[in-house]
Amino acid sequence: MAKKAPTAPGSSYTPIAADEISKRRQKVGKLLKDRVGLVFAGEHSASLRGDWEPSVEFYYLTGIADEPGAVLLLDPSHPNPRRREVLMFRTRDPEDEAWHGIREGLSPQLRDRLGVGTVFRTSRLNWLVTEAASRTGKLATLHEPRPAPAGVNQDLATYRLAAERVPGVSIDSAWQPFYQLIAAKSPAERTLIQGAVDATMAGVRAAAREIKPGANEGAVIRTLTRTFAEHGGEGNAFNPIAGSGVNATVLHYGANNRVMEDGDMLVLDSGTKMGGYCADITRTFPVNGTFNSTQADAYELVLKAMKASIKACTPGTWMHDVDAAAREIIDKAGYGHAFYHGIGHHLGISVHDVDPKTPLAKDAIVTIEPGLYLPEENIGIRIEDDIHVTADGPKNLSSKLPVDRKGVEALMKG
Ligand code: GLY
Ligand code: MN
Ligand code: MN
Repeated sequence: MAKKAPTAPGSSYTPIAADEISKRRQKVGKLLKDRVGLVFAGEHSASLRGDWEPSVEFYYLTGIADEPGAVLLLDPSHPNPRRREVLMFRTRDPEDEAWHGIREGLSPQLRDRLGVGTVFRTSRLNWLVTEAASRTGKLATLHEPRPAPAGVNQDLATYRLAAERVPGVSIDSAWQPFYQLIAAKSPAERTLIQGAVDATMAGVRAAAREIKPGANEGAVIRTLTRTFAEHGGEGNAFNPIAGSGVNATVLHYGANNRVMEDGDMLVLDSGTKMGGYCADITRTFPVNGTFNSTQADAYELVLKAMKASIKACTPGTWMHDVDAAAREIIDKAGYGHAFYHGIGHHLGISVHDVDPKTPLAKDAIVTIEPGLYLPEENIGIRIEDDIHVTADGPKNLSSKLPVDRKGVEALMKG
């Protein structure tokens, strides 16, 4: 129970310290004041257990990556300091453990190692929340609401059960200030993201040499992911995309099994993880090794748009204004219809990390990824870098991977 994210053989990063994770909980406790908050790890289905990942919110506040169904209760005004942070785990199930791995029992040692006041089973959850609701009268949500038809978030569902029993309870929302904390990455988090970016860049460099007419998209992916691992990467942050020809225009293409042809472009969008943190980088290649003039014109337009949006990544700027910087350039060139996704997203524990829906925070890390997709012309282009938003301006974490046309062509030659 309660292991950190797995460490790849040969990787040598420093994981996030327990003390840093404890300070995160204290900060959320401060923003809650006398309200109560719940954070759910999320569910899994048995067959998918190998791929299970906790919610960003739960991993950020606990560092625990292997306890589906776990819940963290934050009750910062509890008179007993031991009850201010309570972690609850599912009951042990010997049959499940025989299939999926042995879990640790509850103990004072486990509690102290996790640095929380109390560890319980999730069977106590409704009891604890009802007790807290009676005492504080104030409950707050720490997960962004999901629109219908997705189910009601588990925190809100749990609060509603308590509110039915305790008159006068208020339920308000604290997810935005919580997500602002998650968005601003600490030095230790930035080191891990840079490590993931470095391993991803190594993968793209190696994969670029596999791109040629007659080769299969799958060969590109195999070299990419093998190189991630050789550089300490921990698997894929998301399903990698090697889309050639018309597949380059499919935003989340995943088959990765077409034979590339002379005259195609190939969009290679991928990222590995390190210490639980993600990278997400895209480069677009001319399959025959040289951009023709139509491809070059389109590529230069996307690159110009990308540079404008990167420049706009400063603290206090809204992401929609960062988006507008690129969109204006593509619109003006008459290709607005061919750029049909947003400019980027927060990056961190998840590739599409939680978004506070506020202006960019200092030390946020975001992707900038304009694209241009013209299926009828066999043109698909996306370029994506990972940007650290600093008070001194944007810092491009993936700038060492060439993005200009000549540099991209040179990558293919190795
Ligand atoms: N690969 C998914 C994305 O770039 O957002
Ligand atoms: Mn991407
Ligand atoms: Mn992305």
